[in-house]
Amino acid sequence: MEIKLRQVSKEDWDYILELRNNFFKDDFIEQKKILTKKEHYEYMKNQKSNTNFHQWISSDGKNNVGYIRLLKDDVSIIVDQKFQNKGIGTKMLELMEKEARKIGLKKIKALVRKNNFSSEKIFLKNNYNVTTLMFEKEIE
Ligand SMILES: CC(C)(COP(=O)(O)OP(=O)(O)OC[C@H]1O[C@@H](n2cnc3c(N)ncnc32)[C@H](O)[C@@H]1OP(=O)(O)O)[C@@H](O)C(=O)NCCC(=O)NCCS
Repeated sequence: MEIKLRQVSKEDWDYILELRNNFFKDDFIEQKKILTKKEHYEYMKNQKSNTNFHQWISSDGKNNVGYIRLLKDDVSIIVDQKFQNKGIGTKMLELMEKEARKIGLKKIKALVRKNNFSSEKIFLKNNYNVTTLMFEKEIE
């Protein structure tokens, strides 16, 4: 199975929404709730003019298997549940790095929520170093 990345087109927006809404609850830092189609489309439209935003769909030749995006140097990756733990996420990071070099990036970072073990694992096994621990306290 050969994993490839292709540029996102508008036809992919619903697939990306589905992925984002499937995983936000336990896995993401920034997304706090289910995104509506309207919110998602608005976001995607706005990013079209953002030269620091790059996004790809990964496919195995037959199926879409995931999504990866760079916002400046910040990577976010999702692999469709049924395709996880087969090395696809790792392959996607490799392919994204090639693209990132072309864009001129020298460093990539990832923010990972505590206890998102598969995410922590994928970055560690792909030679990302832990540089920051973020602490938060509710004061209300
Ligand atoms: C993180 C994610 C992209 C990894 O994709 P993937 O295709 O499964 O990645 P890989 O198969 O290359 O590697 C996954 C590794 O995590 C390990 N793993 C999976 N679940 C785990 C768990 N609960 N605890 C520890 N390790 C775990 C797998 O065993 C594998 O490691 P191995 O190759 O040493 O066996 C995928 O799990 C995902 O989409 N998660 C939801 C979205 C998300 O959290 N994205 C990250 C936000 S930046």
